[in-house]
Amino acid sequence: MIGIFDSGVGGMTVAKAVEQYLPDYPLIYFGDIAKAPYGSKSPQTIIDYSLKNSEFLIKKGAKVIIIACNSAASVATEKLRSTFDIPILEVIEPAVAAAVENSSKGKIGVIGTRATIRSDIYKKLITEKMSSAKVTSMACPLLVPLVEEGWLNKRETKMILRRYLHPMRDKQLETLILGCTHYPILKELIQYRIGKKVTLIDSSIEVAKTLKEYLTNNPALAKELCATKLKSQYYVSDITETVKQTAQRIFNRPQPLTLI
Ligand code: DGL
Repeated sequence: MIGIFDSGVGGMTVAKAVEQYLPDYPLIYFGDIAKAPYGSKSPQTIIDYSLKNSEFLIKKGAKVIIIACNSAASVATEKLRSTFDIPILEVIEPAVAAAVENSSKGKIGVIGTRATIRSDIYKKLITEKMSSAKVTSMACPLLVPLVEEGWLNKRETKMILRRYLHPMRDKQLETLILGCTHYPILKELIQYRIGKKVTLIDSSIEVAKTLKEYLTNNPALAKELCATKLKSQYYVSDITETVKQTAQRIFNRPQPLTLI
């Protein structure tokens, strides 16, 4: 099975993209809602949570893992890759590759949680690929709670987005990386605020494409992932009405969640 974990519901944007790109592959999702948000935690705490989440997914039968949380991907990828002997994919590298490909002048913006922006991982990976790139980063910590509250079209959300994105509008960005699982849900508002000339890079879609390509190049693994008779399973470490509603909003269907 394809294992996916996130700090909560936001990573379901990744699960949804994987369902779209690889509809025949069963998924096992874990959303660590009891410990969310990860974005305001220290790197060591996020690494510890990520190790536990991966162990859980592997015990349940995951043969490949996607770190669907940017905050976890930014600090825990190396540790997970050196600890587990299955492929570990994550949301940052695919988004960086797509941004570089779509930014001939290297004018790239990144928005994310505090943990992601503080780690500076996007800037590091972008400049490794394109040394002339000019990366503008902005931590947008208020966006995750707004999405979780379902405040998708409220005046306050638009005002906060304006406050975050306004300083980036002068940078003549070619691309803007949505460096947090929750941001694809605000895609239209973000596009409006940043301007239609800027191409938005949705890491959930980029990682789904990367996994598809990886499985094409690794047919034995692809076969193994489909060998199980089990259906996709969605686990969470806490559950509330808001969680159920956000999941439903992401998938456009009621999504059964199992509490562990
Ligand atoms: N999933 C997190 C991310 O992509 C956002 C929510 C959190 O901070 O836990 O960075």
